[in-house]
Amino acid sequence: MRSTLFGALSAGLTLLSTVASLPPLERNLAYRSPSLTVGSNGLSHDIDAIGRSIRKRASVARRTLKGPKFANQADSIEANYDGDYGSDGRMAYKGNLTFPYSVASGDPYDTSAILWTHPVPTQETSDPICLRYQTSKSRDFSKADIADSSYAWTTSDVDYSYKVETVGLEPLTQYYYRFSACHDESIRSPVGRFKTMPKPDDAKVDSLKIAVFSCSNFPFGFFNAYSQASRKDIDYAMHVGDYIYESTGDGSPDSYGDGRPLDRVPEPNKEIFTLSDYRQRYATYRGRDEGLKALHANKSWLLVWDDHEVADNSYNHGTADSNNTASGTYDGVTFTDRKRNAVKAYYEWMPIRQVDTTDSLRIWRKFQYGKLADLFLLDTRNYDRDVTDVYYNTAEIAAMSNDTNRSLMGGKQEKWFYKNLVEAQERGSIWKVVGQQIIVNHLHEGSASYPFDYDAWDGYKANRRRMFKTITENKVDNTIFLAGDSHAAWAYDAIPEENENSTSLYDPSTGKGALGVEFAGTAVSSPSSYGANLTLEQYTKRSEIAVTINRNLQFAEGAHRGYFELDLTRESANAHFYGIVNNTDPHSQEILLASFNVKKGANRITRPLNGGKKAKSGALQSSVVDYSKQKWNGTAFA
Ligand SMILES: *[C@@H]1O[C@H](CO)[C@@H](O)[C@H](O)[C@H]1NC(C)=O
Ligand SMILES: *[C@@H]1O[C@H](CO)[C@@H](O)[C@H](O)[C@H]1NC(C)=O
Ligand SMILES: *[C@@H]1O[C@H](CO)[C@@H](O)[C@H](O)[C@H]1NC(C)=O
Ligand SMILES: *[C@@H]1O[C@H](CO)[C@@H](O)[C@H](O)[C@H]1NC(C)=O
Ligand SMILES: *[C@@H]1O[C@H](CO)[C@@H](O)[C@H](O)[C@H]1NC(C)=O
Ligand SMILES: *[C@@H]1O[C@H](CO)[C@@H](O)[C@H](O)[C@H]1NC(C)=O
Ligand SMILES: *[C@@H]1O[C@H](CO)[C@@H](O)[C@H](O)[C@H]1NC(C)=O
Ligand SMILES: *[C@@H]1O[C@H](CO)[C@@H](O)[C@H](O)[C@H]1NC(C)=O
Ligand SMILES: *[C@@H]1O[C@H](CO)[C@@H](O)[C@H](O)[C@H]1NC(C)=O
Repeated sequence: MRSTLFGALSAGLTLLSTVASLPPLERNLAYRSPSLTVGSNGLSHDIDAIGRSIRKRASVARRTLKGPKFANQADSIEANYDGDYGSDGRMAYKGNLTFPYSVASGDPYDTSAILWTHPVPTQETSDPICLRYQTSKSRDFSKADIADSSYAWTTSDVDYSYKVETVGLEPLTQYYYRFSACHDESIRSPVGRFKTMPKPDDAKVDSLKIAVFSCSNFPFGFFNAYSQASRKDIDYAMHVGDYIYESTGDGSPDSYGDGRPLDRVPEPNKEIFTLSDYRQRYATYRGRDEGLKALHANKSWLLVWDDHEVADNSYNHGTADSNNTASGTYDGVTFTDRKRNAVKAYYEWMPIRQVDTTDSLRIWRKFQYGKLADLFLLDTRNYDRDVTDVYYNTAEIAAMSNDTNRSLMGGKQEKWFYKNLVEAQERGSIWKVVGQQIIVNHLHEGSASYPFDYDAWDGYKANRRRMFKTITENKVDNTIFLAGDSHAAWAYDAIPEENENSTSLYDPSTGKGALGVEFAGTAVSSPSSYGANLTLEQYTKRSEIAVTINRNLQFAEGAHRGYFELDLTRESANAHFYGIVNNTDPHSQEILLASFNVKKGANRITRPLNGGKKAKSGALQSSVVDYSKQKWNGTAFA
């Protein structure tokens, strides 16, 4: 449990606002990975003990390192240092640093944002590293343009991750940031940039552009989706999960792909389960893909996890290949410990806020983009999901998929989401953008082998009914669900499964009867869920079958890896689906596959789809079935 120093400060939600005034060790949010207050399960760091050990070394040093030779070392750290640990400054590392993982920012509010880096000392050391951070209105960091500047420490306890909240900023403003060694300003990180959000009550803001990503699997190819987006005029990048994968990647049995031809075998080359494993895996992704580095440096990200940040098909008490029984452990590491390690490393490496430091696993959170949009990031995976399809229990899950007592999000998160969704409507926020992991709408499999997935919302029908009911009963308008996870692209009119065959409750030719829309993106690099290495004709055929038997599915595409961009204005939302031509080429171009419009107040995709043009790949509902001429008679189109 937390000791006294932090006991007094750990007031949950209010904690972050006090961070800037904390001593430099505590100011590094990596020590709250994910929390300072949930101690008994090993999730928190004992920051007092870390501080004490630094202080002890400092006092030893004071006694042993006397004389003029060392007086010179009482440099800027000493001048600025207001904390308790090694306040003579001599105990901070004095050598050179490199920044192989570059810089990143995330979770911007109207006056603050999270900044991240990860210095690597060039000499072996056990000393803390002191870094200064600067946030500036200009790229040249001239004195007049500096908006915020401070410093914090990092140590090996957090793998040298360095995560701070930059504060005192202006809304809707472009900023640049960088890090430098406290003892030598010439030792500097690359420059990153980000944009603050508008004030929550800003009713004038009229544009928001977000690129949405999922499923970036290192061995399967270069992350061209990220490089393409880093050059675009977008405000933020959103990743809805499967940012890393936990498997081996060298083509051996059980591995995901073979990274050897592209020199993309992830480290450590084994299935990961210890804290050190997860840290090394993040280091591979962040250190070795130029597209990922570029997009992190260039835009703030809004991140949330799916299963592979822990392990395949995770739920509250296990994953497909791990649980807390003897047969479900890895080298004696139980699922609970594995999940703890995964979560800890995630918070160390990701530029995200910890919005509730009293709740160890809470990653779900929201952002208010003025009155243009409320952005929700939900956790449909690890927070409190009841048992999922882990391959050997599919029939069991199918049988319980409609049980009312099953939850995907967990009761606490469901309650929070419904309340905030309704509040967003009442406050007059136009778009309710629901970033989450898995396909929301019902997807019939039919005879073809595209996904019909009990690991998606189809396995948690009662939770879906409660969510849809909240929307319809409270007349929540303009809901846009975003999803990833499926390794294929989809665009839906959102409707209750119960209405799917009713001609009066849903009209597929106009979309009348829909309660919102869903845009689900394909993978950055993970292979198609339609099957790998099909011909383009085979991919197209499967897309055509999918839209034929799922009347509210307006677009299906399985041939391309890529991402989509969501552009919001006060009048409409536009989703642009991009496919990467060739992910074995690190400089591949992208193509626009199809675009969809949603008009404010319509709660359905605008017809004609894709502006009346044929999709570049995949199938549009209207290109396969002309619903203005055909009618569903209950069993078939006639
Ligand atoms: C630190 O290392 C970098 C990269 O090797 C080098 O360019 C730089 O000159 C070094 N700086 C100092 C102060 O030694
Ligand atoms: C960020 O985007 C700008 C504008 O497109 C570009 O000039 C710059 O090179 C990009 N930076 C990175 C790190 O990709
Ligand atoms: C635990 O995992 C093992 C190995 O995957 C599996 O055989 C077993 O059925 C699982 N047990 C439970 C309770 O899920
Ligand atoms: C699922 O449960 C709901 C509510 O209990 C019920 O109305 C519906 O008919 C059920 N669906 C199936 C396929 O059993
Ligand atoms: C739901 O209720 C059924 C029947 O009572 C029970 O077997 C099952 O364990 C419950 N599931 C959950 C997630 O509570
Ligand atoms: C809709 O029709 C299909 C095809 O006959 C059937 O499989 C499905 O169960 C029906 N859906 C509902 C909710 O009745
Ligand atoms: C797909 O093709 C690639 C390249 O030819 C090959 O390495 C891979 O094993 C194939 N995948 C499958 C599932 O056949
Ligand atoms: C993809 O790019 C790689 C690397 O440039 C090239 O060798 C390969 O032929 C390309 N594949 C296709 C299908 O164009
Ligand atoms: C619907 O149309 C199909 C195909 O024409 C036909 O076989 C079926 O009997 C029809 N069902 C009803 C209820 O009319």
